[in-house]
Amino acid sequence: MDELGFNKLFAGFIMAGLLMLAGAKLADVMVPHSDLAENAYQIEVPEASAVADAAPVDKGPEPIMAMLADADIAAGEKLSKKCTACHVFNAGGAAKVGPALWNIVNAAKGAADGFSYSAAMAGFGGAWDYAALNAFLAKPKAYMPGTKMNFVGLKKPSDRANMIAWLRQQADAPVALPSAEDIAAETAANGTDS
Ligand code: HEC
Repeated sequence: MDELGFNKLFAGFIMAGLLMLAGAKLADVMVPHSDLAENAYQIEVPEASAVADAAPVDKGPEPIMAMLADADIAAGEKLSKKCTACHVFNAGGAAKVGPALWNIVNAAKGAADGFSYSAAMAGFGGAWDYAALNAFLAKPKAYMPGTKMNFVGLKKPSDRANMIAWLRQQADAPVALPSAEDIAAETAANGTDS
């Protein structure tokens, strides 16, 4: 190759280099690669506080003990229709989807003979006193995460009071109604005087 040939080759390389630089610059102008202010695809993750707000674990549901003494027992019996797909309430009744509920007030949680409870209920501990029943029936899965009782809950405090007052009577010997101290303690624990 003569000198002119080398020069042409050299010029070719320079030209190619310039074109590449120009191309890169042009691409930059057409598609600026500035950092995005936020992700183009938002992933909705509820904030921890929102989850905590949804589950009434700290304050518990509205108090009901003061309502038990003059609750509407007949209304409670009517409400039990919401339960009878899964529970029987009569003495000596057998388990269905859920355990039999005769004598349930103040009974140990998850203790019916021969019923196969979820690990959540079997290991929860304590008894079904008025406060526990109130919290569980308000929102079963909030009170006891992992329970296999698929029931949304009784939202209205008066419904829970009527239901629990009727449940109390489905027993060999109904337990005592809450004392004035029980009622005061429940009110204090729920941080409300309603
Ligand atoms: C869709 C079926 C279903 C409905 C409806 C339902 N339950 Fe249950 N319930 C269950 C199951 C299943 C369990 C056992 C839960 C577990 O093991 O986690 C249970 C457990 C219980 C317990 C605890 C029993 C124990 O032996 O410790 C109580 C109390 C209770 N239910 C009350 C009620 C009341 C009151 C209603 C109606 C307002 C109701 N349930 C509606 C299925 C149901």
